[in-house]
Amino acid sequence: MSISGVYYLRVHYDPMRDPGDDKQETLDPEDWESMRALGHRVIDDAIDYLRDVADRPAWQPVPKDVSNQLTEALPRQPSDPALVYEQFQQTIFPYPKGNIHPRFWAWYMGNGTFFGALADFLSSTMNSNVGAGSHVAVQVEGQVISWMKALVNYPERASGLLVGGASMANLIGLAVARNSKADFDVRRRGLSGANQKLMIYASSEVHSCHQKAVELLGLGSDNLRKVPINDIYQMDMTALRSIVRQDQEAGHRPICVIATAGTVNTGAIDPLAEIADFCARENLWFHVDGAIGGVAAGVDALKDNLAPLNRADSVALDLHKWMHMPFEVGCALVKDSDLHRSTFSVNPEYLVRGSRGLAAGEDWFSDYGIELSRSFRALKVWMSFKEHGLDRYERMMARNLEQAQYLADAINRDESLELMAPVSLDIVCFRYIAPGLEEASLAALNGEILLRLQEEGTAVPSGTTLKGRYCLRVAIANHRSQMADFDLLLGEVKRLGDLLVSEQLQVR
Ligand SMILES: Cc1ncc(COP(=O)(O)O)c(C=O)c1O
Repeated sequence: MSISGVYYLRVHYDPMRDPGDDKQETLDPEDWESMRALGHRVIDDAIDYLRDVADRPAWQPVPKDVSNQLTEALPRQPSDPALVYEQFQQTIFPYPKGNIHPRFWAWYMGNGTFFGALADFLSSTMNSNVGAGSHVAVQVEGQVISWMKALVNYPERASGLLVGGASMANLIGLAVARNSKADFDVRRRGLSGANQKLMIYASSEVHSCHQKAVELLGLGSDNLRKVPINDIYQMDMTALRSIVRQDQEAGHRPICVIATAGTVNTGAIDPLAEIADFCARENLWFHVDGAIGGVAAGVDALKDNLAPLNRADSVALDLHKWMHMPFEVGCALVKDSDLHRSTFSVNPEYLVRGSRGLAAGEDWFSDYGIELSRSFRALKVWMSFKEHGLDRYERMMARNLEQAQYLADAINRDESLELMAPVSLDIVCFRYIAPGLEEASLAALNGEILLRLQEEGTAVPSGTTLKGRYCLRVAIANHRSQMADFDLLLGEVKRLGDLLVSEQLQVR
């Protein structure tokens, strides 16, 4: 008996045609040798591009004529790859975000590395989908996850998953927290099964990705309680205890505390040991957002503060930040692999697992997260760690800590500059000050200094507001920054500040 799909699919083929007649079209290069030559050129150009990065502006806006070229319609016809590459060179390559530059310190980025980029190229060449199946990429990711566990001193029985970044890693940790600490089957019943509100706690400095996570998890952002901070921007433990108590008395169900190991505004590390003790006493899930500081657990200056990472039920790490792996790569770790797996695993018939062949293996990475199709991002992690070794990464991070202290000291010595928060990691918040200026004028002045620094291509800090006061923020997750770069920054901030103040005086 035959089953025919021809009713639906109007495709015609000639049954008389000899299959050996001609070679059918593919997406492979028509001429492998000219593609090889182009590939070599690409590599040469990429090496020059990174070698000479310090000679170019830290950032420059995309010119209008370039933007105009990026509005063309979807091409129908093929183009010569060499011409496509020419267009890339002229319109795209010169205008990077800037985070490869030694004086880029905005938000919290990494620089990437050339070998990491090569690894991405090789990963795309193999084009292995690491969601399911038994192949070497799965084993490479398994090894990388073991390394991540070792980094935070997690037990071997813990599970992990490489993801696009810490936003996703945090979402995964919080999903496991929700399903594990609710007193009903959340997967089956959804949150309509809840008799009580499920509450999560984090400091007021927690990253905004957690708000997205609790909203997506159906918990609601009202139920992400923002705990006040102490003088050094850490979660205030007295406040945490009292907010949790109030929620319990109101009949709600506290389920999780999110601690941050390196807050995005100032780099503060929440009191991890105290939070771990509190969670253990109250039977709460202890999640650590280690996007910034988690990978520095082995750095001497931070070892003691970060040691309690291994007490967390789940940890989110980012490797594309302080470890400089090319975007995107973060890592979710969960101490109890059964809880992790039981939050995400689904086994439909088309993903049946076998004892042999490509579908062998009970444990697939798709059982530990949302995505089924997953890139081979583990390769750049594996190759980069082999290229540099953990000791070198730790030296780079320690140097950034020193640079932050150097910058903070220079700011403290200068009467026209004001340090805005204690420096506990690699983030320095400061502003230019001038006598007689009100808060609003200082904010406008520093905002303009920031824009000019960026637009002149000198340096790229970002801005933030701490306790109602706007300031410049220098996040030194940069393996290319040299001490002299910070002298240049402060010199330019003062030059621009003086200039803007004198212009203002002339207008008056
Ligand atoms: C503390 C913290 N958590 C989470 C994130 C989100 O990480 P990602 O951008 O990798 O998703 C960031 C980003 O800067 C962060 O600083």
